[in-house]
Amino acid sequence: AVQGRRSSLSGVCYLTMGLLVLLLGLVFASMYVYRYFFITQLPRESVFHCGVLYEDSLYSPFKGQLELHEDVKIYIEENYEQINVPVPQFGGSDPADIIHDFQRGLTAYHDITLDKCYVIELNTTIVMPPRNLWELLVNVKKGTYLPQTYIIQEEMIATEHVSDMEQLGSFIYRLCSGKETYRLKRRSARRRISRREAGNCHRIRHFENTFVVETVICKKS
Ligand SMILES: *[C@@H]1O[C@H](CO)[C@@H](O)[C@H](O)[C@H]1NC(C)=O
Repeated sequence: AVQGRRSSLSGVCYLTMGLLVLLLGLVFASMYVYRYFFITQLPRESVFHCGVLYEDSLYSPFKGQLELHEDVKIYIEENYEQINVPVPQFGGSDPADIIHDFQRGLTAYHDITLDKCYVIELNTTIVMPPRNLWELLVNVKKGTYLPQTYIIQEEMIATEHVSDMEQLGSFIYRLCSGKETYRLKRRSARRRISRREAGNCHRIRHFENTFVVETVICKKS
């Protein structure tokens, strides 16, 4: 009788263990299904290959329609955007990596031709925040190209050298550490660059809104 009780006891034990394993399996399976179907649908990191046609009204000799390509990575949770502008097919502007860090309120341009970084306060009238930019790009994705658009220009002057890179936040730090980095100051639109100064300037064409922006970065003369 004792032996019978013992074996039925161990039987209950095995059954309980079996049920536990089954239950755990179910829990993990449902977690996996949840992650797969729900989490992946929320964009954590979205990459877009973008092209835009725009009317170039800045340089009259080349007036006409141009095309600009860039890769846009949007990190909605971390609240920043990274833009990679490859060597443009049209000369005159530099390839660049750009970060708009909405957490810190900073923009960094890495001019790849010069291998230098430039940092300025984020201008929210030009740059769409991650969620809005993501929605815009998802909406135009179906058509591959944005509707035809235009270009605006902004002029910057490089000011002091930045030595404490860590104050710029981890995303800009990752982009700019080890590179010569300068702060930028906006130049008022009224003072156009003279021809003599133009040799000290580099241009980066990019877009993170419905229009193209040419950022002209000049050395202090
Ligand atoms: C943001 O950009 C717009 C358009 O270039 C300009 O008019 C405005 O002064 C800029 N704002 C800041 C705070 O730099």
